[in-house]
Amino acid sequence: MSGPLRLPDGFLLGTASAAHQVEGGLWNDWMRMERREPWRIRGRDSAAVAIDHLHRYREDLELLASMGHTAQRFSVEWARVEPEPGRFDRSALRHYAGVVRTCRDLGMEPVVTLHHFTLPVWLADRGGLLAPSAPRLFARYAARCAEALGEEVRWWVTINEPNVLAALAYAGGRWPPHQRSTVAALRAGVTLLRMHAAAARALRHVAARRGRPIMVSIAHHERPLRARPGSAAARLVAPAAGYALNRWFLRSCASGRVLPPAGLGRPVPGLAGSLDYIGVNFYCEDRVRLDLGSPSTLFVSPDPDPALPRSAVGWSIDPAALRRALLNLWTEFHLPILITENGVADEADELRAAFVTGHLRAVAEAIAGGADVRGYLHWTGFDNFEWLEGYSARFGLVAVDRTTLERRPKPSAAVFAEICRTRVVPSPDGPDGPDRPAPRAVPA
Ligand code: NOJ
Repeated sequence: MSGPLRLPDGFLLGTASAAHQVEGGLWNDWMRMERREPWRIRGRDSAAVAIDHLHRYREDLELLASMGHTAQRFSVEWARVEPEPGRFDRSALRHYAGVVRTCRDLGMEPVVTLHHFTLPVWLADRGGLLAPSAPRLFARYAARCAEALGEEVRWWVTINEPNVLAALAYAGGRWPPHQRSTVAALRAGVTLLRMHAAAARALRHVAARRGRPIMVSIAHHERPLRARPGSAAARLVAPAAGYALNRWFLRSCASGRVLPPAGLGRPVPGLAGSLDYIGVNFYCEDRVRLDLGSPSTLFVSPDPDPALPRSAVGWSIDPAALRRALLNLWTEFHLPILITENGVADEADELRAAFVTGHLRAVAEAIAGGADVRGYLHWTGFDNFEWLEGYSARFGLVAVDRTTLERRPKPSAAVFAEICRTRVVPSPDGPDGPDRPAPRAVPA
């Protein structure tokens, strides 16, 4: 499609963030790791202060709203709300209720995530995602959040990227608790399913009492795997790895059962019908090759297509991949879709404007192709703490000075703002020629 494309009326446009990455002043399993093993994080960066969003959230949200954003996804930090088992901190809950109210006052739809990678240390010490009590405890926390915030929240995300968390923390050994076991990753995956089901039930219970309709989902990381052309071995292994990464969790939710290989179809109470929509975090498609030395990634490794440009963290940039992913998800699940994350690591802000425009055009094309996509949340508003990459990977529309914490919108923020205001996505062939980013070397 060429020419400007229009997004539907009411289409949500905004950004997404996560407590650990922006708030500062937290104590959870990640902070503990950052203290004890600082060498694990690039540059020994720490989220101790992050971007001090905890104290600056009003100004931050005002800035985003002034740029025409109509939605804002953020996460509630379990460790802040329940610092000790069973002790809920009223002031923390009031804080998050204040964030929701501020979003509403500024005309932004809040999208609230209950779990975004981090755990309270007391739960980590009881076994984290392998603790049998995790689903029950998560449901109790979810119910408290629904009571405190629920009146004004329609869109909920129970768990962010359960597939990535199970893979990196329990199979790949890279994130806390640094386990390297396929069995542990499968068990963590099942716990995450149970946690999601239990929290969805708790949220619905509170919403029903109030007579308020809500939309519940996870934020699913969709990373389609494509076999390297000409490699029969890659063609053989890619589908199994792709199923484990991209479909096991969603299909288990859709069927209400723990699907193989993690289970033999045992039903999970509350799982069937637990998704009202699919939250999709989409960054890229991966071209893969066979790698017998990497059981934790199910014997595949990335083998990037040299024809595609890449971001500062080496992820390929190909908006058409988002269109394909949205249409595939729509065709299989027939549920509304909310893009809960999409963005690019780009230190100099050279790629972001074209990235946003290209990906929003892909969204408009998927909608034209029949997919019911309700909104697009860019990752992220402000440069922030990018997990093991520390502050080196910059995904923000707004730069944050690491010394003064001063916020400075980047040129790409104005491009996104114009789309938010008009809901028109410009043609890639504007007056200055094609917007397509030029291929770029990946830093070692
Ligand atoms: C997905 C995660 O949800 C988010 O926390 C992370 O910063 C982005 N991807 C970028 O890697």
